[in-house]
Amino acid sequence: MESSRIALPIGTALDRFIKNNQEQFQYASGELSQLLRDIALASKVVNREVNKAGLIDIMGAMGTQNTAGDQQQKLDVLANIRFTRALTKGGEACAVISEESETYVDLNNDGKYVIAIDPLDGSSNIDVNVSIGTIFSIYRRKSPIGKSISEADILQKGEEQVAAGYILYGSSTMLVFTTGFGVNGFTYEPSLGEYVLSHPHMEMPKDGKIYSINEGSANSFSDPVKKYIQYCKDNNYTARYIGSLVADFHRNLLKGGIYIYPATAKDPKGKLRLMYECNALAFIAEQAGGRGTDGKGRILEIQPTALHQRTPFYVGSESMVTKAESF
Ligand code: AHG
Ligand code: MN
Ligand code: MN
Repeated sequence: MESSRIALPIGTALDRFIKNNQEQFQYASGELSQLLRDIALASKVVNREVNKAGLIDIMGAMGTQNTAGDQQQKLDVLANIRFTRALTKGGEACAVISEESETYVDLNNDGKYVIAIDPLDGSSNIDVNVSIGTIFSIYRRKSPIGKSISEADILQKGEEQVAAGYILYGSSTMLVFTTGFGVNGFTYEPSLGEYVLSHPHMEMPKDGKIYSINEGSANSFSDPVKKYIQYCKDNNYTARYIGSLVADFHRNLLKGGIYIYPATAKDPKGKLRLMYECNALAFIAEQAGGRGTDGKGRILEIQPTALHQRTPFYVGSESMVTKAESF
């Protein structure tokens, strides 16, 4: 396609980008493009609500727990409703898997895609006006259309993602995604109500000097993790930890760095969830030239056995992740 060879300029609207890059949205019939539009639209609604936190009644705890035992915040629940509703109405998705729902939602339709989503990442930062996010993974349905969906549709390896992305509700709101042809970032322009291309062909620096880890749990880190952190200090690295994975990841993507959430005494298998958080960010990292591992091997090759499965997570600049693994 001729148009694909012309780099689209900064300021190109998301819709135009999708139209001009159809070859990046495989299975050409347009459903994947529509799915991304649905997610973008729901994120605008969530963005509007995030920006009113404090003015409308969306701060604070819901008083309930999700399946993983996390306290649900009002905005966790609201964002889950917004995204699930958009995906249900769109008709392209046959199932939605969400961090906030105990089991997957079977939409009972002929949709060709399965979506895994962390509707609101960084819940503890909602009430204090610190960046939060949304993370999503998109998979192809495996079961034949017309038949009911099965476990094989739901528990897919990260390497089977056809697209993944995140929305960062930060000092500006951004949508960053990949369909397996590199990573592009779009900034939300509120006066236009549009995402516009601001970060074409994002590439993660091969090396960096930022390390992001919750050192409060250091006493229960394994020796190799402790040694790697000492290595960072010995080399005068900078520590940066926001506590919203999306925000920490985004900074490291732009500046070069490593994010680690290792196994701890409190979370012996790590805290982060393979299907809602790690798979999407590992895919984006790899597409931008970085790496995502569980400390032993590639995140994308892990066969999930449970929806809410957790994993240790090392993600970021290639050399830094490789170095951390060498300990
Ligand atoms: P969520 O809000 O979706 O439950 O995710 C929170 C995650 C992640 O965003 C963040 O990096 C990490 O939890 C922070 O955990 P600690 O407070 O244990 O460092
Ligand atoms: Mn999260
Ligand atoms: Mn969440």
